[in-house]
Amino acid sequence: MYYDAVKNDHGLPHDPFKALVAPRPIGWITSLNEEGKINLAPYSFFNAMASNPHYVCFGSGGMKDSWRNIEATGEFVCNLATWDLREEMNTTSADVAHGVDELKLAGLTAAPCKLVKPPMVAESPAVFECTHFQTVPLEGADGGPHAYAIIVGKVVGIHIRDDFITEQGLFDTAKAMPIARGGYHDYSVVREDNTFSMTRPGMTDAKLAE
Ligand SMILES: Cc1cc2nc3c(=O)[nH]c(=O)nc-3n(C[C@H](O)[C@H](O)[C@H](O)COP(=O)(O)O)c2cc1C
Repeated sequence: MYYDAVKNDHGLPHDPFKALVAPRPIGWITSLNEEGKINLAPYSFFNAMASNPHYVCFGSGGMKDSWRNIEATGEFVCNLATWDLREEMNTTSADVAHGVDELKLAGLTAAPCKLVKPPMVAESPAVFECTHFQTVPLEGADGGPHAYAIIVGKVVGIHIRDDFITEQGLFDTAKAMPIARGGYHDYSVVREDNTFSMTRPGMTDAKLAE
């Protein structure tokens, strides 16, 4: 099949787009409003986009609390969403009033960051502290503004729980079991039995370390 992606006339019972870009990592984003109230929400239009320095970005469908807070305070935190934290992650996606602390709502523990004011989820094995770099507006179907914008953050600090670093000094992704979003209501999880390694032509361990 083929369809006009701007008209989005796929004719299927559900839009397949998100199922075609799957799995998508989940940026589980902590931010603070101007009054210092905590906000936590998951975003799967999320990814790492550059390294050294590292940049991440997420797409917000309208000015939700995370976007609003980040514009107001210039900082946010990305917590790794994992299999063990899947229910809590889902709870924090609830459509609650501005100023409601979803971190508390999900029974999670807030722990202080080093360089930014929003707290991290203490239960998460890996956390990025970010400063707001830029918000990129997008064009809608009619050439006017899109509801979505891309919020880009510079990663200024990284926390990794020591028990997730192997004896070889690698982050144990399979142990952390990150979850990722598919289409519809689908998710996937990274585990030992569904990962594999492949070496790029000419890639050495020395290059990997760069
Ligand atoms: C796994 C998952 C991924 C999500 N990804 C996005 C996303 O990429 N963009 C978005 O606008 N909403 C996304 N949502 C919905 C938001 O989490 C939801 O609207 C939330 O209430 C926003 O919170 P906030 O207003 O506190 O920022 C996602 C929800 C879930 C459960």
